[in-house]
Amino acid sequence: MKPGSTNPRALALQSLLLVIHDGRSLDDALATVLTDTAVCDARDLALYQELSKGVCRWYFALLVLLKPYLQKPLKAKDVDLEIILLIGLYQILMMRIEDHAAVNETVKLVLWRKKPWAKGLVNGVLRQLIRDGVEIKPEHDEASYPQWMRDTISTDWPQNHQDIFRAGNCRAPMTLRVDTRQRSIAEQIECLADRGLVASAHELVESAIELDTPSPVSSVEGFDTGQVSVQDAAAQIAAVLLDCEPGMRVLDACAAPGGKTIHLLQVNDDLDLIALDQNPARLKMIEQNLARINRQARLICGDAANPQVWHEGGLFDRILADVPCSASGVIRRHPDIKLLRRASDIARLVQQQRNILDGLWSVLKPGGLMLYSTCSIFKQENERQIEWFVDKYDNCTEQSLNSVRWGESRALGRQIFPGQHNMDGFYYACLHKVAIGNKQD
Ligand SMILES: C[S@@+](CC[C@H](N)C(=O)[O-])C[C@H]1O[C@@H](n2cnc3c(N)ncnc32)[C@H](O)[C@@H]1O
Repeated sequence: MKPGSTNPRALALQSLLLVIHDGRSLDDALATVLTDTAVCDARDLALYQELSKGVCRWYFALLVLLKPYLQKPLKAKDVDLEIILLIGLYQILMMRIEDHAAVNETVKLVLWRKKPWAKGLVNGVLRQLIRDGVEIKPEHDEASYPQWMRDTISTDWPQNHQDIFRAGNCRAPMTLRVDTRQRSIAEQIECLADRGLVASAHELVESAIELDTPSPVSSVEGFDTGQVSVQDAAAQIAAVLLDCEPGMRVLDACAAPGGKTIHLLQVNDDLDLIALDQNPARLKMIEQNLARINRQARLICGDAANPQVWHEGGLFDRILADVPCSASGVIRRHPDIKLLRRASDIARLVQQQRNILDGLWSVLKPGGLMLYSTCSIFKQENERQIEWFVDKYDNCTEQSLNSVRWGESRALGRQIFPGQHNMDGFYYACLHKVAIGNKQD
């Protein structure tokens, strides 16, 4: 195996080093490694992705299983060896690869890293793990999360934490959003069937269908023209809850990459819509998404917490605040969150969310509605955040979401747990702005 190798295990090692050692996101790491190499074989590509994603998903549990087999901890400079061992262990425990092939192919990686001295170590440890019949057990679902996440989830959800841990380790479905103004759900399912793709309507979200097997978007008929988009069913709820009417001034405040912006434009005619994001590169993604569906919106690069800088006057009837968050509800799609998020991030995010909520409230019309959403399952970012907000503003009432069937009603807002109705973990709260003196308790 030479540098620039297209060996899928060597590529997985590179992508995992980028995540574990350099703190890069897995999506970014997967793409970066592939730009330097040309992997033509579809099976190699699948193995590369499976190993990279799988080791992230099970990283902490695999480390627990590995530890007793190392006479002493590996040095920091040998993080590559640790990852090689985890790649081997993942194949042995989680994949249908013959043990001997998994060991032999994994051991070759040490030569590629120019550490021939470690050949015996990797070989010996993996073979001993096989001899001992080490396996993944149900308790490893929880062990696959960092300790601070285990503590937060167990404290926040004492009744549901085991289900949450398990659901976060399952593969997420590929869910599509159908623009039902252009094509009915039944028609879309039929179009997909013509291409050999099996899909079914989502049990609760009217615009959503789920593919039996994830497929490249290029093979999904209607994607190029915006008749279908890839979006989890939980995220498809936002446009409905915002309840816009023709002619309304609407602000999508943390809009990129534009999934919800596009949906808002597809379900509502004649909106005066501004899509705001503070990240210029991500704002470009909204532009590309708008071009795909051939629709327009005003795009502004700015900080939602500081509307005085970008706001040109005129209050908004509706605001969507899809705030930056821990993403703890979408771990099944982004298992690298387990490795990259730190406990200390949460207080910073909560403050950021508060600043955004404060800023946006000042540009919402009395009588207007602000929808707060996160893809988090941490109470601090969700119901406790809204509790803080409702206490702070006399002119805010939370509009209950008791008439819907998805998720779980909370004292404030509604929580969807990961895997519930096959959806991502999400939180929604509708905040209604009333004139002071009209607040109903
Ligand atoms: C959860 S993502 C939004 C996803 C998007 N609503 C969608 O459905 O495609 C959060 C976004 O907020 C943006 N963001 C973070 N802080 C912001 C701020 N202070 N002002 C505006 N945008 C912000 C990030 O750049 C990121 O694109």
